[in-house]
Amino acid sequence: MRIDVVTIFPDYLAPLGLSLPGKAQERGLVDLRTHDLREHTHDRHRTVDDTPSGGGAGMVMRPEPWGEALDAILASPPEPAVRPRLIVPTPSGHPFRQADAHRLAAEPWLVMACGRYEGIDQRVVDWAAERMPVEEISLGDFVLNGGEVAALAVIEAVIRLLPGFMGNPESLAEESHGGDGLLEYPVYTKPASWRGHDVPDVLLSGDHGRIAAWRREQAERRTAERRPDLLADEPGSGD
Ligand code: ADE
Repeated sequence: MRIDVVTIFPDYLAPLGLSLPGKAQERGLVDLRTHDLREHTHDRHRTVDDTPSGGGAGMVMRPEPWGEALDAILASPPEPAVRPRLIVPTPSGHPFRQADAHRLAAEPWLVMACGRYEGIDQRVVDWAAERMPVEEISLGDFVLNGGEVAALAVIEAVIRLLPGFMGNPESLAEESHGGDGLLEYPVYTKPASWRGHDVPDVLLSGDHGRIAAWRREQAERRTAERRPDLLADEPGSGD
């Protein structure tokens, strides 16, 4: 899979060189390329923003550097005739869920456009949508300073699903937001007793049936308490 990220802060993406994502890059599972939007400015101050049309607070990212940056990326597809899916993180986007991570993990090529300030001129998205699939996505109901941290999160959520990424793919099966739509049950390890807190007896019983039933009950209890919306049988809840 190829992932191109356009940002005014390429260093924000540096953590993807670490740990498992770093190994995935070394092993060629993912070809991650970051691009500095300011390389596509032509004035002395390398300006990427301007005042909002219609007035108001803050600044908006001008469309021209984005157009040039996207043109340059589109000119070097991973394979001839492959089109990317453009992902634009924004607090006004569609909620990003685990099902979306699975969907994006099946794509050959993602381009992530990281906006700053009050966002990117809407014409960039409208122009791109005439040429490629575009998704504006939100990590949640809170506001970050820019799309970079959201892009990091989305990229990590996606590439850990790539075949061959996980040493033990079974660990994907039981995690939160997996197939059963429940949050994960609490987990414990050794020692059996620590600072007056014990590992629940059932987990030391060796009775796999009882352990499975206990975990299921804990997962249901946790989900009911923390995320009742996942239990409501509504479209868009969970996977
Ligand atoms: N950019 C700023 N805030 C964001 C959020 N909550 N999700 C995705 N992108 C963002």
